[in-house]
Amino acid sequence: MRIALIGYGKMGRMIEQVALARGHEIAAIVDPVLGKTFADINPANIDAAIEFSRPDAAVDNIIALAQRKIPTVVGTTAWQNRMDEVRKAVEDAGSSLLWASNFSIGVNIFYRVAWYAAEMFNKITEYDVGGFEAHHNKKLDSPSGTAKTLAEGVLSRISRKKKIVWETLAEQKPNDDELHFPSLRMGNVPGTHSLFFDSAVDTIEITHTARSREGFALGAVQAAAWLTAEKRQGIYTIDDMLKDI
Ligand SMILES: NC(=O)c1ccc[n+]([C@@H]2O[C@H](COP(=O)([O-])OP(=O)(O)OC[C@H]3O[C@@H](n4cnc5c(N)ncnc54)[C@H](O)[C@@H]3O)[C@@H](O)[C@H]2O)c1
Repeated sequence: MRIALIGYGKMGRMIEQVALARGHEIAAIVDPVLGKTFADINPANIDAAIEFSRPDAAVDNIIALAQRKIPTVVGTTAWQNRMDEVRKAVEDAGSSLLWASNFSIGVNIFYRVAWYAAEMFNKITEYDVGGFEAHHNKKLDSPSGTAKTLAEGVLSRISRKKKIVWETLAEQKPNDDELHFPSLRMGNVPGTHSLFFDSAVDTIEITHTARSREGFALGAVQAAAWLTAEKRQGIYTIDDMLKDI
Protein backbone atom coordinates (compact mmCIF):
# COMPACT_ATOMS: atom_id res chain seq x y z
CA MET A 1 0.00 0.00 0.00
CA ARG A 2 0.99 3.63 -0.55
CA ILE A 3 0.22 5.15 2.84
CA ALA A 4 -0.23 8.80 3.88
CA LEU A 5 0.64 9.44 7.52
CA ILE A 6 -1.47 12.20 9.07
CA GLY A 7 0.39 13.09 12.27
CA TYR A 8 4.08 12.21 12.53
CA GLY A 9 4.53 12.05 16.29
CA LYS A 10 5.27 9.00 18.44
CA MET A 11 2.63 6.89 16.71
CA GLY A 12 3.19 8.22 13.18
CA ARG A 13 6.89 7.33 13.38
CA MET A 14 6.17 3.86 14.77
CA ILE A 15 3.61 3.24 12.01
CA GLU A 16 6.20 4.28 9.43
CA GLN A 17 8.67 1.67 10.78
CA VAL A 18 6.06 -1.10 10.88
CA ALA A 19 4.67 -0.24 7.43
CA LEU A 20 8.11 -0.13 5.76
CA ALA A 21 9.07 -3.45 7.40
CA ARG A 22 5.93 -5.00 5.90
CA GLY A 23 6.76 -3.78 2.40
CA HIS A 24 4.44 -0.75 2.27
CA GLU A 25 5.43 2.72 1.09
CA ILE A 26 5.01 6.06 2.90
CA ALA A 27 3.73 8.22 0.06
CA ALA A 28 2.99 11.41 2.03
CA ILE A 29 3.13 12.90 5.52
CA VAL A 30 0.92 15.70 6.89
CA ASP A 31 2.07 17.32 10.13
CA PRO A 32 2.33 21.04 10.95
CA VAL A 33 5.67 20.53 12.71
CA LEU A 34 7.11 19.38 9.37
CA GLY A 35 5.34 22.23 7.52
CA LYS A 36 3.36 19.63 5.51
CA THR A 37 -0.34 20.18 4.79
CA PHE A 38 -3.03 18.53 2.67
CA ALA A 39 -1.86 20.75 -0.22
CA ASP A 40 1.23 18.49 -0.36
CA ILE A 41 -0.89 15.36 -0.91
CA ASN A 42 -1.83 13.88 -4.27
CA PRO A 43 -4.80 11.55 -3.59
CA ALA A 44 -4.11 9.65 -6.83
CA ASN A 45 -0.85 8.39 -5.29
CA ILE A 46 -2.36 7.24 -2.00
CA ASP A 47 -4.14 3.98 -1.19
CA ALA A 48 -4.86 4.73 2.49
CA ALA A 49 -4.26 7.33 5.19
CA ILE A 50 -3.44 6.57 8.81
CA GLU A 51 -4.36 9.42 11.16
CA PHE A 52 -2.75 9.66 14.63
CA SER A 53 -2.67 13.39 15.47
CA ARG A 54 -4.39 15.29 18.28
CA PRO A 55 -7.95 15.17 19.65
CA ASP A 56 -8.61 18.75 18.46
CA ALA A 57 -7.25 18.13 14.95
CA ALA A 58 -8.69 14.74 14.06
CA VAL A 59 -12.16 15.73 12.79
CA ASP A 60 -10.89 18.37 10.35
CA ASN A 61 -8.33 15.85 9.06
CA ILE A 62 -10.91 13.09 8.69
CA ILE A 63 -13.23 15.40 6.73
CA ALA A 64 -10.37 16.57 4.48
CA LEU A 65 -9.47 12.92 3.77
CA ALA A 66 -13.11 11.93 3.14
CA GLN A 67 -13.49 14.78 0.63
CA ARG A 68 -10.43 13.41 -1.19
CA LYS A 69 -11.98 9.89 -1.04
CA ILE A 70 -8.91 8.49 0.70
CA PRO A 71 -9.70 5.38 2.82
CA THR A 72 -8.72 6.40 6.36
CA VAL A 73 -7.72 4.60 9.55
CA VAL A 74 -8.04 6.81 12.64
CA GLY A 75 -6.30 6.11 15.93
CA THR A 76 -6.58 9.57 17.46
CA THR A 77 -8.72 9.51 20.59
CA ALA A 78 -11.33 11.84 22.11
CA TRP A 79 -13.11 13.12 18.96
CA GLN A 80 -15.94 10.55 18.85
CA ASN A 81 -18.49 13.01 20.29
CA ARG A 82 -18.44 14.42 16.72
CA MET A 83 -19.17 11.06 15.08
CA ASP A 84 -22.40 12.31 13.38
CA GLU A 85 -20.47 15.02 11.54
CA VAL A 86 -17.78 12.54 10.53
CA ARG A 87 -20.29 9.91 9.41
CA LYS A 88 -22.04 12.43 7.19
CA ALA A 89 -18.77 13.58 5.58
CA VAL A 90 -17.62 10.00 4.92
CA GLU A 91 -21.00 8.83 3.60
CA ASP A 92 -21.62 11.93 1.45
CA ALA A 93 -18.22 11.45 -0.19
CA GLY A 94 -18.64 7.66 -0.62
CA SER A 95 -15.36 7.25 1.26
CA SER A 96 -14.37 4.84 4.06
CA LEU A 97 -13.09 5.14 7.62
CA LEU A 98 -12.08 2.63 10.27
CA TRP A 99 -11.51 3.86 13.82
CA ALA A 100 -10.50 2.26 17.09
CA SER A 101 -9.71 3.62 20.52
CA ASN A 102 -7.02 0.97 20.61
CA PHE A 103 -5.50 -0.86 17.64
CA SER A 104 -3.75 -3.53 19.69
CA ILE A 105 -5.25 -6.94 18.92
CA GLY A 106 -4.42 -7.95 22.52
CA VAL A 107 -6.47 -5.08 23.94
CA ASN A 108 -9.44 -6.01 21.80
CA ILE A 109 -9.30 -9.57 23.17
CA PHE A 110 -8.82 -8.11 26.68
CA TYR A 111 -12.09 -6.15 26.25
CA ARG A 112 -13.93 -9.38 25.55
CA VAL A 113 -12.39 -11.18 28.54
CA ALA A 114 -13.29 -8.22 30.80
CA TRP A 115 -16.85 -7.95 29.49
CA TYR A 116 -17.42 -11.70 29.86
CA ALA A 117 -16.20 -11.47 33.47
CA ALA A 118 -18.57 -8.52 34.02
CA GLU A 119 -21.50 -10.59 32.75
CA MET A 120 -20.64 -13.32 35.27
CA PHE A 121 -20.26 -10.82 38.16
CA ASN A 122 -23.54 -9.09 37.32
CA LYS A 123 -25.48 -11.54 39.51
CA ILE A 124 -22.77 -11.86 42.18
CA THR A 125 -23.45 -8.70 44.12
CA GLU A 126 -20.78 -9.28 46.81
CA TYR A 127 -18.24 -7.97 44.32
CA ASP A 128 -17.58 -4.31 43.70
CA VAL A 129 -16.04 -3.36 40.35
CA GLY A 130 -13.63 -0.61 39.35
CA GLY A 131 -10.39 0.03 37.57
CA PHE A 132 -7.76 2.49 36.47
CA GLU A 133 -5.55 3.33 33.53
CA ALA A 134 -1.97 4.64 33.34
CA HIS A 135 -0.25 6.46 30.45
CA HIS A 136 2.85 8.58 29.81
CA ASN A 137 2.82 12.19 30.96
CA LYS A 138 2.57 13.64 27.42
CA LYS A 139 -0.89 12.22 26.79
CA LEU A 140 -3.41 15.02 26.15
CA ASP A 141 -6.70 13.28 26.93
CA SER A 142 -8.00 11.60 30.09
CA PRO A 143 -9.51 9.08 30.47
CA SER A 144 -7.92 7.13 27.62
CA GLY A 145 -10.18 6.06 24.77
CA THR A 146 -9.39 2.47 25.74
CA ALA A 147 -10.55 3.10 29.32
CA LYS A 148 -13.82 4.52 27.99
CA THR A 149 -14.50 1.51 25.76
CA LEU A 150 -13.52 -0.91 28.55
CA ALA A 151 -15.47 0.75 31.38
CA GLU A 152 -18.57 1.57 29.30
CA GLY A 153 -18.72 -2.09 28.23
CA VAL A 154 -18.49 -3.15 31.89
CA LEU A 155 -21.11 -0.59 32.98
CA SER A 156 -23.61 -1.89 30.44
CA ARG A 157 -23.19 -5.43 31.85
CA ILE A 158 -23.31 -4.74 35.63
CA SER A 159 -26.83 -3.59 36.45
CA ARG A 160 -25.94 -2.39 39.97
CA LYS A 161 -23.59 0.21 38.46
CA LYS A 162 -25.27 3.23 36.86
CA LYS A 163 -22.45 5.68 36.24
CA ILE A 164 -18.69 5.80 35.64
CA VAL A 165 -16.73 8.26 37.79
CA TRP A 166 -13.47 9.15 36.03
CA GLU A 167 -12.29 11.83 38.43
CA THR A 168 -10.26 11.32 41.56
CA LEU A 169 -12.74 11.53 44.41
CA ALA A 170 -11.90 14.40 46.76
CA GLU A 171 -13.26 14.16 50.29
CA GLN A 172 -16.08 11.79 49.39
CA LYS A 173 -16.57 8.08 48.95
CA PRO A 174 -18.00 6.64 45.73
CA ASN A 175 -21.71 5.79 45.74
CA ASP A 176 -22.55 2.10 45.48
CA ASP A 177 -23.91 2.58 41.96
CA GLU A 178 -20.75 4.33 40.72
CA LEU A 179 -17.94 2.55 38.88
CA HIS A 180 -14.71 4.34 39.76
CA PHE A 181 -12.07 4.41 36.97
CA PRO A 182 -9.46 7.17 37.40
CA SER A 183 -6.36 7.93 35.28
CA LEU A 184 -2.68 8.14 36.18
CA ARG A 185 -0.24 10.15 34.02
CA MET A 186 3.41 9.32 34.57
CA GLY A 187 6.74 8.82 32.81
CA ASN A 188 6.78 6.83 29.58
CA VAL A 189 4.02 4.25 30.17
CA PRO A 190 2.69 3.23 26.69
CA GLY A 191 -0.67 2.17 28.20
CA THR A 192 -1.86 0.00 31.11
CA HIS A 193 -5.52 -0.78 31.88
CA SER A 194 -6.68 -2.72 34.94
CA LEU A 195 -10.12 -3.89 35.97
CA PHE A 196 -10.89 -5.28 39.44
CA PHE A 197 -13.74 -7.35 40.87
CA ASP A 198 -13.35 -7.12 44.62
CA SER A 199 -15.18 -8.87 47.48
CA ALA A 200 -14.53 -9.16 51.22
CA VAL A 201 -12.52 -12.33 50.61
CA ASP A 202 -10.67 -11.87 47.32
CA THR A 203 -9.82 -9.77 44.26
CA ILE A 204 -9.87 -10.72 40.62
CA GLU A 205 -7.65 -8.40 38.60
CA ILE A 206 -7.51 -8.31 34.81
CA THR A 207 -4.75 -6.15 33.33
CA HIS A 208 -3.50 -5.35 29.86
CA THR A 209 0.00 -3.88 29.75
CA ALA A 210 1.31 -2.56 26.44
CA ARG A 211 5.11 -3.01 26.26
CA SER A 212 5.55 -0.54 23.40
CA ARG A 213 3.59 1.30 20.71
CA GLU A 214 4.41 -1.37 18.16
CA GLY A 215 1.22 -3.34 18.82
CA PHE A 216 -0.93 -0.27 18.09
CA ALA A 217 1.03 0.49 14.91
CA LEU A 218 0.77 -3.07 13.63
CA GLY A 219 -3.00 -3.13 14.18
CA ALA A 220 -3.39 0.21 12.36
CA VAL A 221 -1.41 -0.99 9.32
CA GLN A 222 -3.43 -4.24 9.25
CA ALA A 223 -6.61 -2.15 9.46
CA ALA A 224 -5.54 -0.05 6.45
CA ALA A 225 -4.94 -3.27 4.46
CA TRP A 226 -8.35 -4.62 5.51
CA LEU A 227 -10.16 -1.35 4.68
CA THR A 228 -8.67 -1.09 1.18
CA ALA A 229 -8.74 -4.78 0.25
CA GLU A 230 -12.39 -4.80 -0.80
CA LYS A 231 -12.93 -1.12 -1.59
CA ARG A 232 -15.25 -0.79 1.41
CA GLN A 233 -17.43 2.29 1.93
CA GLY A 234 -18.74 3.80 5.17
CA ILE A 235 -17.68 3.68 8.81
CA TYR A 236 -16.09 0.64 10.42
CA THR A 237 -14.43 -0.15 13.72
CA ILE A 238 -11.74 -2.67 14.55
CA ASP A 239 -14.55 -5.07 15.58
CA ASP A 240 -15.55 -5.41 11.92
CA MET A 241 -11.97 -6.37 11.04
CA LEU A 242 -11.62 -8.80 13.95
CA LYS A 243 -14.83 -10.59 12.95
CA ASP A 244 -13.12 -11.34 9.64
CA ILE A 245 -9.90 -12.67 11.23
N1 LIG B 1 -5.91 4.00 18.83
C1 LIG B 1 -4.73 3.60 19.32
O1 LIG B 1 -4.39 2.41 19.29
C2 LIG B 1 -3.79 4.63 19.89
C3 LIG B 1 -2.54 4.24 20.38
C4 LIG B 1 -1.66 5.25 20.80
C5 LIG B 1 -2.05 6.58 20.75
N2 LIG B 1 -3.28 6.89 20.28
C6 LIG B 1 -3.74 8.28 20.13
O2 LIG B 1 -3.14 8.80 18.94
C7 LIG B 1 -2.95 10.22 19.06
C8 LIG B 1 -1.49 10.56 18.76
O3 LIG B 1 -0.65 9.95 19.71
P1 LIG B 1 0.94 10.18 19.68
O4 LIG B 1 1.45 9.48 20.90
O5 LIG B 1 1.50 9.87 18.35
O6 LIG B 1 0.99 11.78 19.93
P2 LIG B 1 2.20 12.77 19.61
O7 LIG B 1 1.92 14.00 20.40
O8 LIG B 1 3.53 12.10 19.77
O9 LIG B 1 2.03 13.10 18.04
C9 LIG B 1 0.97 13.85 17.52
C10 LIG B 1 1.45 14.49 16.22
O10 LIG B 1 0.33 15.10 15.59
C11 LIG B 1 0.80 16.30 15.00
N3 LIG B 1 -0.30 17.20 14.70
C12 LIG B 1 -0.79 18.23 15.43
N4 LIG B 1 -1.79 18.84 14.76
C13 LIG B 1 -1.92 18.17 13.58
C14 LIG B 1 -2.76 18.34 12.45
N5 LIG B 1 -3.69 19.31 12.41
N6 LIG B 1 -2.62 17.48 11.43
C15 LIG B 1 -1.70 16.50 11.44
N7 LIG B 1 -0.86 16.31 12.49
C16 LIG B 1 -0.98 17.13 13.54
C17 LIG B 1 1.79 16.85 16.02
O11 LIG B 1 2.65 17.83 15.42
C18 LIG B 1 2.51 15.57 16.44
O12 LIG B 1 3.64 15.33 15.63
C19 LIG B 1 -3.44 10.57 20.46
O13 LIG B 1 -4.80 10.97 20.40
C20 LIG B 1 -3.33 9.25 21.23
O14 LIG B 1 -4.22 9.16 22.32
C21 LIG B 1 -4.15 5.95 19.87
